[in-house]
Amino acid sequence: MSITIAFYMNRKFAQVEPSMIAADWARFGDEAFLCAKAGIKIIHLDVMDGLFVPNLSMGPDMVLAIKKSCRDLILDVHLMIYSPDRFIETFAESGADEITFHFEATEDIEYVKNYIKKCNKKVGIAIKPETSETLLVKYLDNVDKILIMTVEPGFGGRKFLPDMLKKVRFLRSIGFNGDIQVDGGIDLKSGEESILAGANRLVSGTYFFNQSDRAMTVRQFNILCEKFVQ
Ligand code: DX5
Ligand code: ZN
Repeated sequence: MSITIAFYMNRKFAQVEPSMIAADWARFGDEAFLCAKAGIKIIHLDVMDGLFVPNLSMGPDMVLAIKKSCRDLILDVHLMIYSPDRFIETFAESGADEITFHFEATEDIEYVKNYIKKCNKKVGIAIKPETSETLLVKYLDNVDKILIMTVEPGFGGRKFLPDMLKKVRFLRSIGFNGDIQVDGGIDLKSGEESILAGANRLVSGTYFFNQSDRAMTVRQFNILCEKFVQ
């Protein structure tokens, strides 16, 4: 089913979402523009605080710059920061369309969840590899997306952890029908395994930006995304 038809039929569809941490940062805006030109609808923007993960990346000004230069792109902001509530409004005002925070980064999941909702943004909850998926069960109401980290967060280019797919299968088995995103080490092989496990959003950084023909890469991902069964 084509993404457009699925979208208007309000059916869930699967898609690839480039993680901009792996893009050429000297040409960040151009890279986002080229993603859109290649048929990408959503890009993934990793925000890191140097404490929750041992790395620093971008802030709200970068989100604003991308929103201004590529208005058609949906911006999925992945907050790898402690006390994410401090920055929800800033990222919402900077153009984030979706804000994902980490289960491990706050004492009050419901508060952060509701704060994002109050800012009229889609809300996602992410879990690290060592966090059990069963801890999410009581927080799934009104959550648009669960992000399953398939690498230890903090850097692009890490190896995919296939064991994490049991978390995807578990969420689908208990009837979670929001989006399930996998993030880290996603290429065509791990992407297909993830789709078959029930994920419908593939975040790909290093693999995606290492390919010279972006449009071809998007088409290759779209073919395996067709295997997604809701
Ligand atoms: C890791 C980030 C991911 C990662 C994806 O902390 O959340 O988005 O950068 O990049 P690759 O595909 O290179 O693992
Ligand atoms: Zn990410």
